[in-house]
Amino acid sequence: MKEIEVSSAQTDYSVVVGADLLRRLPELAAERGINAAAAVVSNSTVGPLYGRSLAERLALAPPLELPDGERFKQWNQVERVCSWLLDHGVHRGATVVGVGGGVLTDMVGFAAAVYLRGISWIALPTTLLAMVDASVGGKTGVNLPQGKNLLGCFWPPLLVVADVATLVTLPPRELRAGMAEVVKSAWIGDRGMLALLDRELTDYQCLPIERWQELVVGCVKVKAEVVSEDEREAGRRQALNLGHTLGHAFEAATEYQRLLHGEAVSWGLLGEAVIATSRGLLSGDNLHRLRTAIEYLRPLPRVDDITADVVLEHIAHDKKRDDLGIAWALPSDDGVALGSRVSADEVREALAEIAKLGPAMAERPAMR
Ligand code: NAD
Ligand code: GLY
Repeated sequence: MKEIEVSSAQTDYSVVVGADLLRRLPELAAERGINAAAAVVSNSTVGPLYGRSLAERLALAPPLELPDGERFKQWNQVERVCSWLLDHGVHRGATVVGVGGGVLTDMVGFAAAVYLRGISWIALPTTLLAMVDASVGGKTGVNLPQGKNLLGCFWPPLLVVADVATLVTLPPRELRAGMAEVVKSAWIGDRGMLALLDRELTDYQCLPIERWQELVVGCVKVKAEVVSEDEREAGRRQALNLGHTLGHAFEAATEYQRLLHGEAVSWGLLGEAVIATSRGLLSGDNLHRLRTAIEYLRPLPRVDDITADVVLEHIAHDKKRDDLGIAWALPSDDGVALGSRVSADEVREALAEIAKLGPAMAERPAMR
């Protein structure tokens, strides 16, 4: 088991990473002086797998199980969580536990933030993406019809417990999507991890649990360092948007139906790498390196039918937009170049370039 500390203006907290940690939650919380959990919230997929047994172990009522899916990441579900907490007598000093992927932990964190003007919560991420990204850094929220995560706030959990043993039940496509964020973290902050990925990506689905632990720990360290320095995304945290400006546009252009978030980030990384190379920020060797890492995450749903105009339209509505447009995070030889203003022509060129990769990216990689 490894523990990584995260600093926050509200509360410093630990991210504990290891195998079979869910059953140890009571002692992990008690050791850190955290109030015993008063309620468990999960979803209809993860509840039966992990949430119910956890609630039993904590001697609590069965968990509230929200419907599963990004389309349910809405204010009405947050309201439902709050009413349920009230019905179960959860008071101000209590702690609520969210067990699930990033959709669930974002919603439970947001519910904890607004319930009785804010109660404590513990995040138990059960997807790779939630372990390496969503559960760390205190961003919580829900979607609005106009776009993703438009309602929300910073409300860090008191504790994050990433039990890598839960990855065993995660569908392979979700695992591959989460790997896109692993590649992003490695590129931003731990090239050593990228070298390991180069060696192992082809058969990462068969990685032993200890290697998952190492990868999750590596990514959490990168994210913890960044958000501890810049919690509110005034500067350095913007690096975590690598691959996301184009990625979000691809997701929105396909109405969140075709691509998982991580798959959109994979395409975003590929496109943003093209822009960075044209600008001289990324060498040909590093472009190749980044592309190779993404190639092992195939098959990716294609995006070459999405026109540049549609992508540009969605970029124009990106919530990162300021008076000058969008400050992109582009991959560079030594990590990330922040604050780049990218022209429509550069986006068009990048899209034309990655469209050529479409058929190959839709295929499974050959095993080495
Ligand atoms: P998700 O929460 O939808 O989970 C993916 C699927 O896997 C779901 O069907 C889920 O029920 C299922 N699942 C979860 N754990 C499982 C397990 N162990 N075994 C079997 N099935 C399991 O998707 P995600 O990729 O985890 O998260 C995406 C969300 O995270 C998005 O809403 C995104 O906005 C958010 N996010 C937030 C942050 C942040 O900083 N707060 C960062 C990145 C992403
Ligand atoms: N996933 C981006 C962030 O947490 O800032």
